[in-house]
Amino acid sequence: MSLHSPMTGAALSKTESQLAKAMQGKFIVFDGPDGAGKSTQREACDKALRSGGTEVVSCRDPGGTTIGDRIRSVLLDFDLSTMDVTCETLLFMASRAQLVHEIIAPALREGKTVLCDRFITSTCAYQGAAGFDPERVIELARFAVGDHWPDLTIIFDVDTEEGFDRIGRKPHHAGKNRQKDAGTANLFEGSQPDAMEARSLDFHRRVRNMFLEVHNYYPTPVITVDARGSVDEIHQRTVEAIIHALG
Ligand code: TYD
Repeated sequence: MSLHSPMTGAALSKTESQLAKAMQGKFIVFDGPDGAGKSTQREACDKALRSGGTEVVSCRDPGGTTIGDRIRSVLLDFDLSTMDVTCETLLFMASRAQLVHEIIAPALREGKTVLCDRFITSTCAYQGAAGFDPERVIELARFAVGDHWPDLTIIFDVDTEEGFDRIGRKPHHAGKNRQKDAGTANLFEGSQPDAMEARSLDFHRRVRNMFLEVHNYYPTPVITVDARGSVDEIHQRTVEAIIHALG
């Protein structure tokens, strides 16, 4: 059976069965800078796998569990400028430990395919860009996730300005901290940037570079996919990259 475009329904060249075989029982992470389109690509893979009968569990980091969502709110719904980067790193790692315990490990034990938006690579890139040693992120992660490392991490690479454009932010607004004590409203639903998006353009350029470096020290395979172009083009590239890496 042909693989169909998630957007247009047009037949794509790689087969669903090749993709399903490559990803069966695997843990795949979709990561990259803000605006890279990783969530859209995760959803497209999720849809392609499900339509072929694969049992898929999709999740996102930070969050994905009741406890993780509360930690996520501490991290992202308010101004982070007074938070120490070690505290920030440990909170992301704490949320992740819960996600692994509650969702990822049980799904893998049952032979399901796990697709996750962001994971340890995000901590290497974002908290690395904020000054935390990425090699120490790996040490902490060994403690937090045990043996549950991704079989494959895909970094969707996009130019920082283009990424900002895609999420509807103008570079000159970057760096303007959100209001302290912004109240308890869920700011993800509004047009305001979250605490990480509100950091400067320079910070986000460093994040992009950190993502491009991760494969040098990460303990499991990390590949980069060019995230320029249409959703369908990137999806096709992603499918080819996954089959090449895991097939
Ligand atoms: P989210 O709303 O999930 O954004 P996105 O749709 O871009 O994934 O917000 C997550 C934000 O938290 C994002 O800006 C990246 C950042 N982040 C870190 O700084 N460190 C981490 O370890 C993770 C997982 C995310």
